Amino acid sequence: MYLGLDLGTSGVKAMLIDGDQKIIGSANGALDVSRPHSGWSEQEPSHWIRATEEAVAGLKAKHPKELAAVKGIGLSGQMHGATLLDANDKVLRPCILWNDTRSYVEAAALDSDPRFRKLTGNIVFPGFTAPKLAWVAKHEPEIFAKVAKVLLPKDYLRLWLTGEHISEMSDSAGTAWLDTGKRKWSSELLAVTGLDEKQMPHLIEGTEQGGTLRSELAGKWGMLESVVVAGGAGDNAASACGMGTVSDGAAFVSLGTSGVLFAANAAYLPKPESAVHAFCHALPDTWHQMGVILSATDALNWHSGVTGKSAADLTAELGETLKAPSGVTFLPYLSGERTPHNDAVIRGAFIGLEHESSRVVLTQAVLEGVSFAIRDNLEALRSAGTDISRVTAIGGGSRSRYWLASIATALGVPVDLPADGDFGAAFGAARLGLIAATSTDPVAVCTPPKTAGTIEPVAALSGAYEDAYKRYRALYPAIKSLQH
Ligand code: XUL
Repeated sequence: MYLGLDLGTSGVKAMLIDGDQKIIGSANGALDVSRPHSGWSEQEPSHWIRATEEAVAGLKAKHPKELAAVKGIGLSGQMHGATLLDANDKVLRPCILWNDTRSYVEAAALDSDPRFRKLTGNIVFPGFTAPKLAWVAKHEPEIFAKVAKVLLPKDYLRLWLTGEHISEMSDSAGTAWLDTGKRKWSSELLAVTGLDEKQMPHLIEGTEQGGTLRSELAGKWGMLESVVVAGGAGDNAASACGMGTVSDGAAFVSLGTSGVLFAANAAYLPKPESAVHAFCHALPDTWHQMGVILSATDALNWHSGVTGKSAADLTAELGETLKAPSGVTFLPYLSGERTPHNDAVIRGAFIGLEHESSRVVLTQAVLEGVSFAIRDNLEALRSAGTDISRVTAIGGGSRSRYWLASIATALGVPVDLPADGDFGAAFGAARLGLIAATSTDPVAVCTPPKTAGTIEPVAALSGAYEDAYKRYRALYPAIKSLQH
């Protein structure tokens, strides 16, 4: 048995698989995000532990025998968060999360130093870890002075699980301190933010062993064997392992809190000016590119909060048959945007409202806005040398058939739906646990799921979608000057 633990933004998911990769069961623990100021987004690391305990207890209640037989654990997690520890591994302040944009001034300053794009292959986005440390150095110098270790969220969970300071390549590529081509920390870049390698965790590959479970926790969870913890992966690379998106050109679209268009690459293909992320993959000697939008299901959840209707009710009201865009356009920049704009201060908008703009029309515009933002990502990936001929959809938003038809039509490519099952980050993490514990060939383990169905672009609406996308593209430059 193998256990995957995915530390997401809205909760922790624990999933058990057996040696044949059959899913035995899963359980969740919930998390909240604290937003004390506009653009801020934080979580207490102690809540991650609480949610993990809750999720594992849920699994134990349903599958005690199987949990007892776990041999390997894989970790996946929300990327980029800055978890700051003192010399006794005490947490110094709430973790500053991936969608926190407070450090945009510091990010722009670091990004203007050409060494960052050259060595990391990426823009220094405000969501990345390095500018967060620059912000803490400036605004909370007494905390910065005490920083003995900087850990990414899932690596803080690993510290609790194993007692070790370890990270792996895919998540570390999102810090802006990794030499992404060489797969090692850049002491030069760390020095720019007043840090050195001693303050960083030791690096391994996602498929390698990174510590063993502390006996106290193994006893509590009723685990009998010595349990290996794999390096694991950032949540997007972990999802790719779950979806079998590991060979060159394979791609998925993830509709989670954030939206991601992800492509696996056999080589390191940086193109920072496109705002495409070029990161290490979780498998040795492989890389990937992705475009990231900050609000995908988060945009629908915002609309749900405003209208007082659940996201499921809102999408149900739309029906399943794709409609032509109504003329109302929604820009999903609720907390700024990464790809393609790299703009932390831009905010969202509804444009083109009229008397007939009912709740249903607004829901339709919200879904279309996210689809167009993902189309922007497709164009960015194309400019970075990667073409995508089909994508597989994952994440909570992929439950809406309407949304998938809208994405297929906006991108002009078929969208595959995986056969019944849950092939996301927790599954990918469990696979990495299996690989590390059994030294199996990663490519043989990370195979794609069967396809349950394919949603083709709606040809009759492609012209209307193309016109609506042109309107969408024109709006960012038009509203930018009003908001900067
Ligand atoms: C990726 C990113 C998000 C988070 C969400 O760069 O910021 O996808 O990993 O958990």
